[in-house]
Amino acid sequence: MSEAEAGIRVKVWDLPTRLFHWTLVLLVLLQFATADWGLLNMQWHFYFGYATLALVLFRLLWGLFGSETSRFRHFLRGPHAVRAYVRSTFWQKAGHPVGHNPLGGWSVVAILTCLGIQAVTGLFASDDITAFGPLSGKVSDASVHLLTAIHSLNQGVLIALIGLHVAAVLLHALVRKENLVHPMLHGHKWLHRDPGLRIAPVGRALLLALLATAAVAAVVAWGQGNWPF
Ligand code: HEM
Ligand code: HEM
Repeated sequence: MSEAEAGIRVKVWDLPTRLFHWTLVLLVLLQFATADWGLLNMQWHFYFGYATLALVLFRLLWGLFGSETSRFRHFLRGPHAVRAYVRSTFWQKAGHPVGHNPLGGWSVVAILTCLGIQAVTGLFASDDITAFGPLSGKVSDASVHLLTAIHSLNQGVLIALIGLHVAAVLLHALVRKENLVHPMLHGHKWLHRDPGLRIAPVGRALLLALLATAAVAAVVAWGQGNWPF
């Protein structure tokens, strides 16, 4: 049966969530490129890092005030639901979930937490030569060394989580014949019935993105001694 024969075309991912995802992918790549692969310089690593932090903050707010499928309470399920999903996936009985599946929901939290740790430790990190995170002057040298070490070690955790994430997407395509990438691009899935999802207005996303950006800009300005108040 083709996707179209499965039923109705329903919008499951709103524009802000899709923009968030693909901008995040680009920024994370640029973070590795500037720190490890010699692209541009560390000043750009900082700029991309601030943008990543603002994106993660935005996604936390969107998880509380965004569209239905993007809200944490929509996709964070207890161990029972996760076990049932894993079992039914194994027997290929699970239908197409409307948003994140119960296992995928927790992987979203893991990736966001890991990225949050990476970006926040980056603010305090330093190579002791030319790169000094904007908050590195606000804490002791021992703390700077500890947070720099965490920044360095956590990159491995991040790479592992991203690897698992992409492997899960591929597995869905190969085993369950379900293309998850298309909906993350154009926002729609073919479902048997319309679940009547609530989509939040884009204006709200803009406001929350502005708030997240202002919060990061304020912290950086304070760290650099440019805080005007
Ligand atoms: C730097 C690499 C990546 C990171 C950090 C990342 C992170 C994330 C996050 C946080 C979400 C949750 C979206 C939300 O609810 O806001 C997500 C979902 C998703 N990502 Fe990625 N992603 C990465 C790379 C990729 C790549 C390369 C692909 C394509 C192969 C991909 C395909 C998807 C899909 C299809 C979903 C939706 C999954 C579902 O239907 O439940 N991601 N990703
Ligand atoms: C999620 C965002 C980020 C990612 C993925 C990331 C990734 C990395 C990676 C892979 C390294 C190389 C570590 C090593 O090989 O030892 C690095 C180093 C560094 N990063 Fe980030 N970073 C992020 C955010 C930030 C931010 C926001 C800042 C500061 C504003 C920052 C400041 C630094 C500094 C100062 C170093 C050099 C530390 C050293 O020499 O050990 N990073 N980062």
